[in-house]
Amino acid sequence: MTRVLEVSDVHKYFGGVRAVQGVSLTVREGQVVGLIGPNGSGKSTLLNLIAGVEKPTKGAITLDGQRIDRWPAHRIVGQGIAKTHQIPKPFLAMTCRENVAVAVMFGNHKQRQSAKAFDEAGRVLALVGLERKADMMSSNLTVQERKRLEFARVLGTGARILLLDEIFAGLSPEELRAAIALFTKLQRETGFGAVVVEHVMRAVLTLSERVVVIEEGMKIAEGTANEVVEDPAVIEAYLGVEAARATP
Ligand SMILES: Nc1ncnc2c1ncn2[C@@H]1O[C@H](COP(=O)(O)OP(=O)(O)O)[C@@H](O)[C@H]1O
Ligand SMILES: [Mg+2]
Repeated sequence: MTRVLEVSDVHKYFGGVRAVQGVSLTVREGQVVGLIGPNGSGKSTLLNLIAGVEKPTKGAITLDGQRIDRWPAHRIVGQGIAKTHQIPKPFLAMTCRENVAVAVMFGNHKQRQSAKAFDEAGRVLALVGLERKADMMSSNLTVQERKRLEFARVLGTGARILLLDEIFAGLSPEELRAAIALFTKLQRETGFGAVVVEHVMRAVLTLSERVVVIEEGMKIAEGTANEVVEDPAVIEAYLGVEAARATP
């Protein structure tokens, strides 16, 4: 069954901080939606709300029409929605393979036989190019390798909708091209849907079928990459010079 995730007029306040103020968006399995906005505009908070890490102050989040916004995070992962952390959080005392095996065992796959979970973890690590690091402690990885491990953990859960928080940040232009090619290949093969959050626009504009732009917790534009980069509100509010450079 094709999953449909719907975020409807969601708000999140942290005391006096209005991090998200009435954002709505729809993501279908198989569809990649980009979410861009300046630092502090509420992107990570929105992903945390979808993943159940934070609870909305107001509004609703549904998966296939069913409310999930009061569910605990583990139940949401079990329904096929999984998120990377903006700052990677592997289990540092575990190897890469063990980290991904945990995701396989407790994600959508619910593969509780550890030997099979370890096999699947090895397969997923190879997909993201970490096969040679599989038995290394995750604490020994570089920052970029930790990001790849985060991506592998999300893939390992068997998620049908991926929430990716700045996994392309800090890459050189060449690394970025390789990362985009890998993402596109996996997305085509697996058919997952994704919300791809980036502060830097180029990756998002290249990857996304639709792009949502938020500023100060509010949606200021939505459309194709070409539509949003030409939207005067977006140019004025945020993109400016970057937009001209990043046109796909
Ligand atoms: N747990 C929290 N407690 C208080 N304020 C928070 C918390 N998380 C985020 N914020 C605030 O919410 C706003 C949006 O943050 P965030 O979602 O991290 O933005 P982005 O990911 O777009 O950079 C910021 O002002 C941030 O300081
Ligand atoms: Mg963020």
